[in-house]
Amino acid sequence: MAKIGIFDSGYGGLTILEAIRRELPQYDYLYLGDNARAPYGTHSFDIIYRYTLQAVDYLLNSDCSLVILACNTASAKALRTIQQHDLPLINAERAEGRRANGRPANVLGVIRPTVEAVPAITKTGHVGILATPATVSSESYVLELEKLSVSLFVSQQACPMWVPLIEAGEHQHAGADYFVDLYLREILAKDPQIDTLILGCTHYPLLLPKIAQWIKNNGKRFAAGDIQVISQGYLEAKSLADYLTRHPEYASQLSQGGSCHYLTTENADRFSQSASLFLSSPVLAEHIDLG
Ligand code: DGL
Repeated sequence: MAKIGIFDSGYGGLTILEAIRRELPQYDYLYLGDNARAPYGTHSFDIIYRYTLQAVDYLLNSDCSLVILACNTASAKALRTIQQHDLPLINAERAEGRRANGRPANVLGVIRPTVEAVPAITKTGHVGILATPATVSSESYVLELEKLSVSLFVSQQACPMWVPLIEAGEHQHAGADYFVDLYLREILAKDPQIDTLILGCTHYPLLLPKIAQWIKNNGKRFAAGDIQVISQGYLEAKSLADYLTRHPEYASQLSQGGSCHYLTTENADRFSQSASLFLSSPVLAEHIDLG
């Protein structure tokens, strides 16, 4: 039987894991945070692709048959190449018995489930994307939103300091206020009609209390109307539940012990401490090396 692997560059994927476990508590999960090499969002395509592939490979060799890239940067920069180029090779090796696990594997991302929710939320049709520099430069959100049948005005804002603040555990402190203010002002200066802000990075929900407070205090000054903020956890959880209903060949492979094991490329104690805070429940992580 197999587990569901959840991958992120660091702690951000925990926001997705938490929502998925709420929706699908019966399955067994393996979380991998590449904290030692985070942030990914300021790296080039080649690096993000290489790091992501190493993590996917590790999870697939650790009894996972389904891997969720709970990272927008990895979804934007690496998912397509992994799905089109690497997965067919990996699955052929699995089928031929050259890998321990012979069952077919798949890798899913977080961008499409988020984009699909947008038309039902925006009233003005003006949407803002807050994301890492790599996700913004990939234009993945813009391209996916263009595929929808509704026409939208999309603005993007790179927030290069948000992931480092969260990885350093500084997101609840006063220093984070400066960068919350900076990026929210910038995106609303691009388009004050925005009524829907997508947190296009799985780390960003950890800043949600500060973002919500900023909108409450400043929204009227910088935006024409009310603003809704979209976090991805719930959307990704619903999308995975739907995927498993449509793909019983994967659902039937999954073990149902309700467990979750945590791996990090950084110090295990440090990860355990921070993850326990983010999840409000005890986490005991194990250190691994990738690549
Ligand atoms: N959580 C990742 C994302 O969703 C952060 C990427 C990074 O490490 O910069 O994009």
